Amino acid sequence: MEQKQSKTAIQWLLIGGAIAIGLASAFLSISDNPLKALFTERFPSFDDSGLDKYTPGSQSVCQQVPKLSPKNEKAQQFIRDKVESPKYQEEIIDKLSGIIRIPSESYDELGPIGQDERWDIFYDVEKFIKAKYPTVFSTVKLDHANTHGLILTWEGSVPASKAKPILMLAHQDVVPVLADNVKEWTHPPYEGHFDGELIWGRGATDDKGYLISIIESLDLLIESGFKPKRTVILAFGCDEEISGENCAKPISNLLHDRYGDNGIYLIMDEGSVGIQKEFDQSFAMVSVAEKGYLDVGINVTSTGGHASNPPDHNVIGILSEIVMAIENSPFPGKVTSKNPMFGFLECAAVHAPESSFPKSVRNKLGNVANGISKAQQDLARELDNMRYYFRTSQSVGKINGGVKINAIPETASTLINLRLSVDTSIAQIEEHYENLVEPIARKHRMVFEGFHSSRESSDPRKVSLFGVDALEPAPVSPVDAEAFKILSGTIKHTLKPLGQDNELIVTPYLMPANTDTKCFWALTKNIYRFTPINLVDNLNRAHTTDEFIRADEFVREPLFFASLVLNADDAVEQDTS
Ligand SMILES: *[C@@H]1O[C@H](CO)[C@@H](O)[C@H](O)[C@H]1NC(C)=O
Ligand SMILES: [Zn+2]
Repeated sequence: MEQKQSKTAIQWLLIGGAIAIGLASAFLSISDNPLKALFTERFPSFDDSGLDKYTPGSQSVCQQVPKLSPKNEKAQQFIRDKVESPKYQEEIIDKLSGIIRIPSESYDELGPIGQDERWDIFYDVEKFIKAKYPTVFSTVKLDHANTHGLILTWEGSVPASKAKPILMLAHQDVVPVLADNVKEWTHPPYEGHFDGELIWGRGATDDKGYLISIIESLDLLIESGFKPKRTVILAFGCDEEISGENCAKPISNLLHDRYGDNGIYLIMDEGSVGIQKEFDQSFAMVSVAEKGYLDVGINVTSTGGHASNPPDHNVIGILSEIVMAIENSPFPGKVTSKNPMFGFLECAAVHAPESSFPKSVRNKLGNVANGISKAQQDLARELDNMRYYFRTSQSVGKINGGVKINAIPETASTLINLRLSVDTSIAQIEEHYENLVEPIARKHRMVFEGFHSSRESSDPRKVSLFGVDALEPAPVSPVDAEAFKILSGTIKHTLKPLGQDNELIVTPYLMPANTDTKCFWALTKNIYRFTPINLVDNLNRAHTTDEFIRADEFVREPLFFASLVLNADDAVEQDTS
């Protein structure tokens, strides 16, 4: 299992896919491959050391594709010119300001759509985008999934069975702003204030900037005269910041009914990173997986009684012992080759300046790739500042127990929030907790109920474990798929590295949080979360006060999305020729 990823990198090198690898690199890899093969056969340790593989300039990992320009030069030029024009820039900024002015907040305790009036604000969002994008809405087919989930389908000339549709997601909802916090905002959160440089407001980056960018890209493509062969779908959820049950799920169900398992070519959604500098190198970070999620509940119950006649340990004491045991057994950090962050380290090792990438990290990569457990743990320790990319986190978030000072409490309970690393599973986590808690229950002569017990015991003295919200870690999307190469080539074609860097390196990355894509796994393996701007300067205000987006970066986002659609459309031609 551990070796899968390294095999992928080699396959990438050999196959090269639909896009021709640059001549120079092809020559290099062909000319030094037989030699390497010879060495590997006779001295296996040569390759195992990973020293040559992880040296700057090495071609054997993190292969980059060249810039990919759409064949439709006319459409591309039209869109480029448009995006540079002051009139367009003014208009799209105005559209973002306008949609920010609609406070489409989603709340944890919302009732169903149609019953809870607080959903009605989403009618305003729909009305707004219809008013701003009349051409789009007269071109696409609009479907509603559970009223506020919007699906815009721009039918291609080739049926979906021959050319799978491309799907771009964004969410209409935003994290609520607490009334008490409004005064802490430099500009009111729902004013959409533009100060000439920044557009301020809740949703500016998360996720209304993305929403406007993808719909604008469609508008530009239509205006350019482009007619897609491959169907293009945009879908806008209404509850990304809460459950996804109200919109993301119904949208996914509708698309699944229409296109079936693996019926979609590629899904784009918001990323938690974007273009960013690490180890003195610019990277375009494409999240190819998400951590899992689990809320664990623990109940301890017993018979109560008067406080003058207490047991040595009541339910509060026992629960405390359990919490201590849990905190004293954190999940170990481990860098495995299944983790997209390992792919990122490989990219940094070969593309960052040699002096900027720690030698001690570089030296461990070979052994990590070969599945050597000690190296995997050592490397996680070494990268402690990024620890939660490499481990399952657990955070005891709530504790309840006791009602009265002079009564022995009958129940005590706690809730623990976990974010699962990509190389674990809900079953493994459950087993870990059961192994920790059961001995404590036994010690106190209590009944133990694990996660999947039948809960039949009528004994009031018991310790019960149960799962609340659960989501497995996302499947890791492939980086050797044609769709990923199209995406990479589009990134290189439309986006620039930061500062003085020569090249923007496309790298896999890991999303520590969850997106609407959690509902879309059945539709494609090719799920990529990426925001085509520098998110260090932008997204770090998401979910808090003073959220903003840089106008000069935002106005160019549609060029990226439009080029992606054009490039994905060109791939249809390759399929049928
Ligand atoms: C745990 O305790 C809470 C609060 O007392 C209760 O609502 C819930 O049903 C209990 N769950 C289990 C599985 O015992
Ligand atoms: Zn979001």
